[in-house]
Order: sequence, then structure tokens, then C-alpha cells
Amino acid sequence: MRSNLTISEQELNEQRAIAAALSKEIIPRNLSFYVETFGCQMNVRDSETIKGLLNTIGYSESDQKETADLILFNTCCVRDHAEKRLMGNIGALKELKDRNPGLIIGICGCMMQQEGMAKKLLRRFPHVSLIFGTNVLHRLPEMIRCVMNGERVAITDRANDAIVEHLPRLRDNPRSAFVNIMYGCNNFCSYCIVPYVRGRERSRRPEDIRKEIADLTANGITEITLLGQNVNSYGNDDTAGMHFADLLRYVSDVPGLKRIRFMSSHPKDLNEDVMQAIAELPNVCHHVHLPVQSGNDEILRRMNRKYSREHYLSIIKRLRELVPDIEFTTDIIVGFPGETEDAFKDTLSLVEEVGFAAAFTFAYSPRQGTVAAKMEDQIPEQIKKCRLSELNTLQARKTIENNQKYIGHTGEVLVEGYDQRGDETLLYGKYQNFKMVYFPGSKDLMNRYVTVRVTDINKNSLIGEKINA
Ligand code: SAH
Ligand code: SF4
Ligand code: F3S
Repeated sequence: MRSNLTISEQELNEQRAIAAALSKEIIPRNLSFYVETFGCQMNVRDSETIKGLLNTIGYSESDQKETADLILFNTCCVRDHAEKRLMGNIGALKELKDRNPGLIIGICGCMMQQEGMAKKLLRRFPHVSLIFGTNVLHRLPEMIRCVMNGERVAITDRANDAIVEHLPRLRDNPRSAFVNIMYGCNNFCSYCIVPYVRGRERSRRPEDIRKEIADLTANGITEITLLGQNVNSYGNDDTAGMHFADLLRYVSDVPGLKRIRFMSSHPKDLNEDVMQAIAELPNVCHHVHLPVQSGNDEILRRMNRKYSREHYLSIIKRLRELVPDIEFTTDIIVGFPGETEDAFKDTLSLVEEVGFAAAFTFAYSPRQGTVAAKMEDQIPEQIKKCRLSELNTLQARKTIENNQKYIGHTGEVLVEGYDQRGDETLLYGKYQNFKMVYFPGSKDLMNRYVTVRVTDINKNSLIGEKINA
């Protein structure tokens, strides 16, 4: 057992003092920042903290990259193409820097935690002057001060696992928010780079999580998504004093909290207690994102996933018994090293059998430093592509099948957006079990709960009409 490191109040106060001093210079100059976020919800949540900090330093947010005074990319490295895209994006900024020498260009996020990456980027892109990793967000004031003094700064502290509470945050979503319950990952799935870049698993204290949720609901948020790479192992590091099922129970009665979502769930740790909590707590949503990755036992073993196809299917079965309207979504990788045609067929048959509401499907992408990248029997790109497309065709049919059973269904939708189609405004939002519905209505229903009956289906969503209560 080891305890969480925490940043001392003194350290945080130093950062706050730097921010306050900087803001006296920055506010009168009317400087703005532009942050672009890649990757998963972890990064989205981190970007909110980064934006909150930039605010306290005196910058205001802008959606115009071309005129911003600070441009920051929050990066992902889970698959190879993310890296290629970033390089293109950064290269393209040189022109802006030439026109505005005062422009600060920064890169942060998971990719910066890769061995040697910061050095490589500083060498390749002289117009980049700020690089930082995922563990040092709280030091942003100090970093900006150095950059403003003409230095190039790169802080990618891979060892420091501290959990830093009480950082500011800037949100644009008025109804729904992400709440980290843990950071890092201990699973080392053989294909995955996340444990290398995000470090070991550590859980936040339940009191801190509950307080964050209460602050959010006090500000009008009614839906939260609890975030972790594997929420089902919450508390395994013994610092939290409770496990995930009890955390759900502990936060579920926060006043004003209508919907609790969580992701991701790892099948090896989703136990009966968690299933009972989903069934028993009225505001825990009936949706589980349960990445299966493959339907073949040998591939699952080589992926180091630590469950079998049979175990996976038994969770689905048990949850459907306990919670009949539950929906599942998943992640699947095709073309993992050694995946034979028969092994791939097992994935197809699992998708056929489960009937996921949706699946996020990926061609295996070798990540340097991971076990799978060194495996023999790498699958040619062409075959990966074919398998991906076959899988997607199957899932598209399954999504439609899944949608069909909703015709006539009535339930509450939390309205999250709208499409203008000529004269008609089509609102959209989700049922608690994650099914997306489009229905005609007026824009002032944005962010509200509306009762909607399904009348028809689309390829990926439902079509409905508002029921007047
Ligand atoms: N912690 C989450 C997943 C985070 S990464 C979980 O375990 O469920 C999101 C998804 O990206 C993974 O579920 C996996 O399907 C995919 N992924 C991760 N590494 C990959 C790689 N090297 N190539 C292709 N897809 C990958
Ligand atoms: Fe990656 Fe596996 Fe951890 Fe998910 S559980 S982040 S796939 S190592
Ligand atoms: Fe990408 Fe980092 Fe998330 S690598 S998937 S942004 S944890």
C-alpha cells in the first residue's frame, strides 16, 4: 500500500501568486488563448483545468486560432495517426508565429509523456516554446511566466503521481460534466500505451469526488460521468477506503444529481456488487461501456485482458437480468498480432450475439514500448482494413436492429443540441441508457429534460416526438 502524494498548500499558493501577478500584465493587454483537445474524456477534463488556469493567469478564451496569443494542443497518443495529425497541425502554425512573434505555441497531454518526445518536438519545431505532461498542470502559471521571459519550457515529470485538488476549471457544457475518480492505469493491456504515459492507478478520495459533484450540481449540472481508465478498480490502491460500487452509493444522493454515468469499465473487475449498485440506485444510468476488444480467447490472452469470452458474456447476461433496459457499448480492436481469420470470426460472432447499441472499432496500431508491438505475426494493414470494414458493416446492421426495438418507447431525454433543417428545429439528446433521439421542438428546451416517444429510426439514432406532460 502507498498513499497518494498531494501537492502542498504552499506550492499551490506559490502558483496562485504567480498567476495573480501575471494577470495584472495580461488582462490589460487583452490576451486570448485557444486550446484544441485530442483523445479521450480524460483529456477533455484536463483541458477544462488548463483553461481554468489560463483564466486565472488573465487570458480569455477564444475560438479563433488565427488571432489567439496562446495556442495549446492537448494531445493523445493511443493510436499512431494521432501523432501524424499533430505534427501536421504544429507545422502549420509556423506561419502564424512568423506573423505574430509574441504568439506562444504549446503542446501538452499524453503524447508529451512519451520517452524522448518533448526533446524531439523542441528540436523539430523551433516555434514551439511550451511543453508539459499530464502531471504538472498546476504548474502552468510558473511555466507561462518563464515562457513570457523568453525561455523555452518543457516539463514532463513522469514520476510525480500526485493528485492535485482544488484547481480551477472552465466548462462550456451547462448540463453535463466529467468527474475524474481515478487517474492512470495498472492493466498493461499488451497493445496499450496509456499505462506508460498516464502512470500508475491512483484513486481520488471519496470526499473530494462528492464535493466536486455537489459544486457542479449547485451550478446547474444534472448529469455527471465518472471517469477512470478502469472505474471498476476504484479504491484498489487502498487510499480511497471504498470500492466502486460503494462510491456509486456514496455520491448518488447528491442533491440535484439526476444522472450518473461512468466509463470505462473493465470486464475483469465488473463484479456483482457493481451490478447490484447499477440496478438499485435510481440515478445510475442503465448504460455500460464495456470494451471487449476481441471475441477470441487466445487473442484476449495475448492482449493481457485477463477475462475470457465466456466471462464477458456472463456479465452481459447477468446485467440484463438485473436491469432489463440496459444498453452496452464497446471498443473492439481488429488485426491484433496473431489474429487469424477464425479468431476474427469469433469477434464477429460475439458482436452478433451481444447486440451492442454501438461499437467503437479500431485497427490495431503498434505503439512503441508496448509488448504487442514486438510480437511476431503482425497483421498487414490491408487485412486490418478489410476486417474493420466487415466488422463495421455488421455493427451497422446490429445498431439498426437495436434501434428497432425502441419504436413506441417513451422516456426522458436530456436535450444536448439542435440541428436547424430549414424551418424546422430538430432537438437531440439521450435517454438515460445512452440512446440518442432526435425530435422537433424549440431551442429553449436546450439542457432540459423532455419526455419523448419514439416514432421512427435512423441509422444511428431514434426519431421521436415530444409528449406534453
Ligand atoms: N481504459 C479504456 C480504454 C482506453 S483507450 C479501457 O480499457 O476500456 C480506448 C480504446 O482504444 C481501447 O479500448 C482500445 O479499443 C483502443 N486502443 C488502445 N490502444 C490501441 C492500439 N494500440 N491500437 C488500436 N486501438 C487501441
Ligand atoms: Fe489501456 Fe487496458 Fe488500461 Fe484501458 S485498461 S487504458 S486498454 S491498459
Ligand atoms: Fe489518448 Fe491519453 Fe486518453 S493517450 S485515449 S488522451 S488517456
